[in-house]
Amino acid sequence: MVESRRGASARAPRTKFESHPSSQIVIGDCVAEMSKMAAGSVDLVFADPPYNLQLKGDLKRPDESHVDAVTDDWDKFDSFAAYDNFTRAWLLACRRIMKPTATLWVIGSYHNIFRVGTIMQDLGFWVLNDIVWRKTNPMPNFRGRRFTNAHETMIWAARDENSKGYTFNYEALKAANEDVQARSDWLIPLCTGDERLKGADGKKIHPTQKPEGLLARVLLSSSKPGDLVLDPFNGTGTTGAVAKRLGRHYIGFERDHDYAAAARARIDAIEPLPDATLAPFMTARSAPRVAFSELIERGIISPGTKLVDSKKRHGALVRADGAIMLGDKVGSIHRIGAVAQGSEACNGWTFWHVETHNGLRLIDELRAEIRSEMAAS
Ligand SMILES: C[S@@+](CC[C@H](N)C(=O)[O-])C[C@H]1O[C@@H](n2cnc3c(N)ncnc32)[C@H](O)[C@@H]1O
Repeated sequence: MVESRRGASARAPRTKFESHPSSQIVIGDCVAEMSKMAAGSVDLVFADPPYNLQLKGDLKRPDESHVDAVTDDWDKFDSFAAYDNFTRAWLLACRRIMKPTATLWVIGSYHNIFRVGTIMQDLGFWVLNDIVWRKTNPMPNFRGRRFTNAHETMIWAARDENSKGYTFNYEALKAANEDVQARSDWLIPLCTGDERLKGADGKKIHPTQKPEGLLARVLLSSSKPGDLVLDPFNGTGTTGAVAKRLGRHYIGFERDHDYAAAARARIDAIEPLPDATLAPFMTARSAPRVAFSELIERGIISPGTKLVDSKKRHGALVRADGAIMLGDKVGSIHRIGAVAQGSEACNGWTFWHVETHNGLRLIDELRAEIRSEMAAS
């Protein structure tokens, strides 16, 4: 949902999304491939680039067993300058294809994230947050010469300082966090167990597969169903898998054929969640206005229906024009609700019910059904 927050649009959500979002993985260099895309076409970028880990020599545990670290060629650069050039090129390519309302996430570690952050600011990106992903199960520091490296950092940024209308699902995140503002430190385990893609030999397919829980939080916080999400460094397709499950369209770029094949199989097996579980979160303020007469126009309530309060002490007749009548008093659901209670004001939506085969139903629930239809159309 687009929330009314500083920098974010105040419009009520009217997202059209499909139950079967498209997912595409393109094999190739991400900079070259992004240059073929239309400018301003992407809603959200999540990038998990090579970290340039600078690991020196073989890493061993105290029992001399080998540590499965990232030693792949795709993570190697000749110098910091080479890494910076590469970073500048892919960030620029992303920036061109981002919509003005789009935002970009980059994940990294102390090896690269400070360089990436500086380049982002130099290119004009506007940093919105840095998120610390705190790992519940980090790898120990085997040599005991430094602190355990227990977190990674994500930079979340808008295209530029004046970007307005970017998606930040503030209220939904707060509701999911027991009505407390969501914080910038996230406690999430590393990707292990069944989620970890393994080959026929039982070995990990990819050294840096990210947890789906992390991507779910990224996508749920800063995108909407139906959005186009892009990951320039697809790997095993974690972003694509989560995007499809959450009803977002996806494009991922990956140079390695084997990783791309594994990612395609993974994403093909994902079932999108039902629309009702993805519909944008609405607060009383952001929800579109629905007049009581719309319930009559849509045939949900018929003229002549009796509305009652929860204890059935009062009964009001629904008129054809959308007003209701209690005795000789005619007025809105709110006005007549107040008259029934002898009070100054009343929220008619949460006072009046209709009788159904399964008992009383609050008319507010009928309004909620209309609103979720509106949000999904
Ligand atoms: C850190 S991994 C991404 C892992 C991914 N987030 C996942 O969960 O599986 C980076 C990936 O980018 C790919 N890569 C590196 N440079 C690339 C480039 N210029 N264009 C496309 N892919 C690239 C690597 O092959 C590697 O799979």
